Amino acid sequence: MTKQETFQKEFENHVKEGLTNFPKYLSSKYIYDDKGDKLFQQIMELPEYYLTQSEYNIIDNHKIDLRQLFQAPGGFDLIELGAGDGKKTKVLLKELIENQVDFIYKPIDISQSSINELSASLKNSFPTLHVQGEQGTYFAVLKELAAYNKRPKVILVLGSNIGNLQHPDAIDFLTQLKDVMGKDDILFMGFDQKKNPLTIQNAYSDSQGVTQEFNRNLLHRVNKEMDANFPVDLFEHWEAYNPETGTAASYLIATQACTVTIKALQMEVSFDQWETIHTEISQKYDDNTVEWLATTAGLQITKSYTDDKQYFKNYIFKVKA
Ligand code: AVI
Repeated sequence: MTKQETFQKEFENHVKEGLTNFPKYLSSKYIYDDKGDKLFQQIMELPEYYLTQSEYNIIDNHKIDLRQLFQAPGGFDLIELGAGDGKKTKVLLKELIENQVDFIYKPIDISQSSINELSASLKNSFPTLHVQGEQGTYFAVLKELAAYNKRPKVILVLGSNIGNLQHPDAIDFLTQLKDVMGKDDILFMGFDQKKNPLTIQNAYSDSQGVTQEFNRNLLHRVNKEMDANFPVDLFEHWEAYNPETGTAASYLIATQACTVTIKALQMEVSFDQWETIHTEISQKYDDNTVEWLATTAGLQITKSYTDDKQYFKNYIFKVKA
């Protein structure tokens, strides 16, 4: 089976499982086809979605410090998980290139089209940069990273992507990262912080309805790829931020009762009016929680950076001594 076929099979099994469960769920990791990628890029431009700008400011304000921290005498490998369009990373790449730092850049993303577009745009902006893009899920690619042990590596996970994982999965993810890290390796990761609940609520229920379209793309994909007939417009996006746990949860809610046929899976799914499909969590953090996740995974925080409003933080992790 090709990578693509395996991923498709996983998606089908997931849909079968998630839509026969009570309450129903579908994972946001399946939002990202070409259309989902474009919608996420639109989200990152939204005035309400403060995460991108906050992290951009952190990297821009601290790029000299980061360069000095990352550079190594014999060069290093800069590996980015979930690279997307690389807008924030380009600030760092520019800083490294302009200062003749010896490194290669290895962006990894679940979406092949993101990797292709990013590689093309990097070639254009930085003709001398050595780029080795790769398509794959984090977990599949993490195994390969273990082989990257000839030079120190810096692993970037930006955008608070970790927030889309429940705490036990986040610990698992960090542990797997720790397992491929040597004592000189660095993990640089973004964590969106707890803040005024309204700011978070608005970031995930924007006034233009882009987040709704992004969320609905899950249903469009099932329709397209599994020959289904979800009446997509009847499903409305709902966001619920819980300030106690720091979890922002996304749902699609059936505004009318309906029955959906998914031909490729030979199944029918019925929805009562106001029944939900839970689609995503976007966890918000504080220092104690990040510290707890890191320590449990065998990592230690050696430094952290924040923006003027203290909305977002990027932490430097090393393997616990
Ligand atoms: C990719 N991820 C970190 C985004 C987030 O903030 O959870 C996905 C997203 N969902 C709705 N808006 C953005």
